[in-house]
Amino acid sequence: MLARCHNIEDLRRQAARRLPTPIFDFLDGGAEDEATLRNNRMAFDREKLVPSCLRDVETVDTATTIFGQASALPLICAPTGASRLFHPAGEIAVARAAARAGVPYALSTGSTRSIEEVAAASDGAKIFQLYVYKDHGVNRELIERARAAGYGALCITVDVAVVGKRERDLRHGLSIPMRFTPAAVARFACSPRWLWGVRGGLGLGANLKTIGGAAGRGRGASTSWQLDPSLDWDGLADLAALWNGPFVVKGIMAADDARHALDAGATGIIISNHGGRQLDGAAAPIEVLPAIAQAVAGRADIVLDGGVRRGTHILKAIALGAKGVAIGRPYLYGLAAGGEAGVDRALAILHKELAVAMQLAGCPDLGAIDERLILRASPA
Ligand SMILES: Cc1cc2nc3c(=O)[nH]c(=O)nc-3n(C[C@H](O)[C@H](O)[C@H](O)COP(=O)(O)O)c2cc1C
Repeated sequence: MLARCHNIEDLRRQAARRLPTPIFDFLDGGAEDEATLRNNRMAFDREKLVPSCLRDVETVDTATTIFGQASALPLICAPTGASRLFHPAGEIAVARAAARAGVPYALSTGSTRSIEEVAAASDGAKIFQLYVYKDHGVNRELIERARAAGYGALCITVDVAVVGKRERDLRHGLSIPMRFTPAAVARFACSPRWLWGVRGGLGLGANLKTIGGAAGRGRGASTSWQLDPSLDWDGLADLAALWNGPFVVKGIMAADDARHALDAGATGIIISNHGGRQLDGAAAPIEVLPAIAQAVAGRADIVLDGGVRRGTHILKAIALGAKGVAIGRPYLYGLAAGGEAGVDRALAILHKELAVAMQLAGCPDLGAIDERLILRASPA
């Protein structure tokens, strides 16, 4: 079946067939009218490429470094929580497939396999994504565990002061933190294969259940979803100092915020609207990229996520000033469609599409990609 998936949309359709509708909608959906979710993708399509020819593109080199870690592609797997909802192998499958493809994997705080389990399963480049909790002891403990387990960068997500209004989830009786109403559970009865897959449990809160050690057990659970909406730039600077290594801020959309992030100690920025799951009506990352690239002026790696579904989207992001992209749903569609092999497939599709796009655009390596590739209206 995977062999018949030739693009990310094919994997999406396959995921839709395999998952119970409430779970597929949790993966696929966005906030409110989903205007931002749709625009993330459409904004890529509005940018037009101007290819160059006769540039010797017999071979293409897609290798780079992102956030201090080597990557075979200008791409990382974005942090996504609750992956065991989509396949029992969850984050372990994603980490292994990412390592095989030579791309970094960002593990979410909300993962369903722990920081340590994922580190033990994969020796690939890893980033730990932290949601900042009100309880600073929880933050400190998670950061120390990520350091001890060998994660090479810390990523702080800053666009979830509160959780966005995701209406597909509300209709299905799903809420964040992940809870199911009886009506939602009844829908799962129609998906016996999925139910069989999760018989060992969903692993929700895998990183939080041991917070505080044996004596503090329960503390993690009680604070687990008390995110800190009062976090400010000083708080971010404290976290950067605590980590004292490659420090990435995810969820930046404004050029001024990119400057603040650099002042607070960021060495990397992920331009993101959380894949359209938070503020509906927010601009697409690719639309704000040129202004942020200008503000950052090469002082930090810029990665962009939201709506990347094609190799040409990666090309456009780099042409407009990004070091690379992150993908969320594309690898999760693969995971749902076929477990670890499905993630392999998603990454292979994007790798191949990027290589072909570079050849057709006249770019033998990533350094050859710049803004001249993008059509701009000629001055009147
Ligand atoms: C199911 C799902 C779970 C997510 N969980 C997280 C998370 O735990 N932490 C985080 O920073 N972003 C999370 N995100 C957002 C992704 O990191 C990323 O910003 C987004 O998926 C990019 O858009 P794309 O799906 O169009 O590639 C999640 C996205 C999805 C689809």
